Formats: sequence, structure tokens, C-alpha cells
Amino acid sequence: MSLAETIAGRLRTLTTRVFGTVGEAKQDVAVEIKSKAEIEKMRATCRLAAQVLDFIEPHVVAGVTTGELDRLCHDFIIKHGAYPSPLNYKGFPKSICTSVNEVVCHGIPGEQVLKTGDIINLDITTTLGGYFGDCSEMFVVGETTPEVRKLIDVTHESLWLGIREVGPGKRIGDIGAAISEFAGKQHGYGVVEAFCGHGIGREFHMAPQVSHVGKAGTGLRIKPGMTFTIEPMINIGTKHCDVLSDGWTAVTQDRKWSAQAEHTLLVTETGFEVLTLRDRCYRPSWAT
Ligand code: MF3
Ligand code: CO
Ligand code: CO
Repeated sequence: MSLAETIAGRLRTLTTRVFGTVGEAKQDVAVEIKSKAEIEKMRATCRLAAQVLDFIEPHVVAGVTTGELDRLCHDFIIKHGAYPSPLNYKGFPKSICTSVNEVVCHGIPGEQVLKTGDIINLDITTTLGGYFGDCSEMFVVGETTPEVRKLIDVTHESLWLGIREVGPGKRIGDIGAAISEFAGKQHGYGVVEAFCGHGIGREFHMAPQVSHVGKAGTGLRIKPGMTFTIEPMINIGTKHCDVLSDGWTAVTQDRKWSAQAEHTLLVTETGFEVLTLRDRCYRPSWAT
């Protein structure tokens, strides 16, 4: 980055100090607006993260271990000149997150053998050219029950209902409101509140926090050039989670199953660009 770009970036950060509302308290959050050059870097790293999902999908079969999926993704990411962001992030020991069945998020790959009917979220984050790209999807091992299939479908749809709220003039609370209205109110699922989407760029997790529950018309004003994730975690039962003794694995308190899907978004002048789209990922009919 040139000196001029660096200075311009600093100024943008300073001048986009905005006031978001979290609950009753006013929160002063600086949200970065990406430059054209930074947006190109975000596109590249996000494209790679999505390509990892394309690459790994055929390997998600009965008999494979989550550790094997991790190793395959790790090698693919390194081969493409990038770094698997979770590895050593705050002490996380592996290169991707593998969250099976009742695991809500941050499952650690290991010896677990996938069996027919299991569901797994693969959460891929890449660092390429200094920028992070983050996405996740649900995969079914063979076939699962109609009850679980519906959980997955509602989760992927809820992500897109959140995405549809992204654009200039919208507020961050509009996203969570759309997701919780659909998955929580209409379908009666538990919408996890303990983990949020996040701003993303030269850091993995930045301002703003993107809650998956919220009140329409409240919170941070969304502006062109912002990049953040939306990543709802939707539970068949309770929204409440426990974190296991490994310090990472979040599971549902009632051990009923959970699903999650995630994209990284760029706010454009007219709406949004999904930076982590891939050919085979779910998208609703209005988005095609
Ligand atoms: N990819 C996760 C997210 O969506 C974060 C994983 S942090 C890790 O924000 F350390 F568990 F990898
Ligand atoms: Co994320
Ligand atoms: Co992620």
C-alpha cells in the first residue's frame, strides 16, 4: 500500500467514527471503509475461502474424520499461497472449524469419524495478501431426517434474509431482525445470541458486531465500503450454549442439533456483494 493510501485509510477510519446502539447503551465504534485496492484484496481472499468449500465438498462422506478434512483444507490453502486463519488464532489448534450435529461453532477437527445422517458445518477462513475471508456452510453426510433437513434449509435461508437487509441507509439491527423473525418467530428455532457476525479485513474480527437477533431500525448505519460477515447459528431447541473444556467447542445446552451458514459481504452503493459466493452454494431465487 502506498503512503497516500495508508494516510487516506487512516482518515477514513477517523471520519467514519459512528454511533451504534447496543441495547440501551450508546457504543462508539470505528468501522473501516475499505479503499478500492483493499476491496480487490478482500475479493481475492474471499474467493479462495469459497473455493476451499468447492474443493472439500466431495470429501464429506461417511468414514472420513474431521481431522482428515482439516488436513485436506490446510494443504489446499497453503498450496494457493494463503494461510488458514484459525491455525494458532488465540490458540486454536487447527486450520478449519468442523462443527458436527449438536456443536454450534468452533468445533476442533480430530479423530471423530463422520457417519451417515450426521451434519457438519465447515467454517473456512483464509488470509491472503494480508486480508481475511470467512465463510461456512452445512453439509449432510449421505441423507438425514426431514426434521434436520429443514433446520439446515431454514438456516441457509435466514442467512440470505439477513443479506437482503444489507445496503446504504440500512441499520445493523435490520439484519438480526430479519433472521430472528424468520428462524425464531416463524419456525420456532433457537437463534444463538452468544456468537455474532463481525467486521473483517486486515483482522479476523473487527467492528462492527453483527448480531443475529435485533430490532429493525436500530444500531450502526451501514455504509458503502464496509465489509462484514453474517453467520447465524440456528438451533432446533434452546438458543443457549455451553463451551466444552477444550475452551473452544460450543454445543447446545440441550444437545439438540444446530446449523450455521456464513458469508462475507461488501456493502456497495446500491446494496451488497457476497464476496464468498461459490457455484454450488445455496442462494434464494430472488438472488439468482
Ligand atoms: N471462522 C469463525 C468465524 O466465523 C471464527 C473461528 S475462530 C477459531 O468468526 F479460532 F475458532 F478458528
Ligand atoms: Co466469521
Ligand atoms: Co467463519
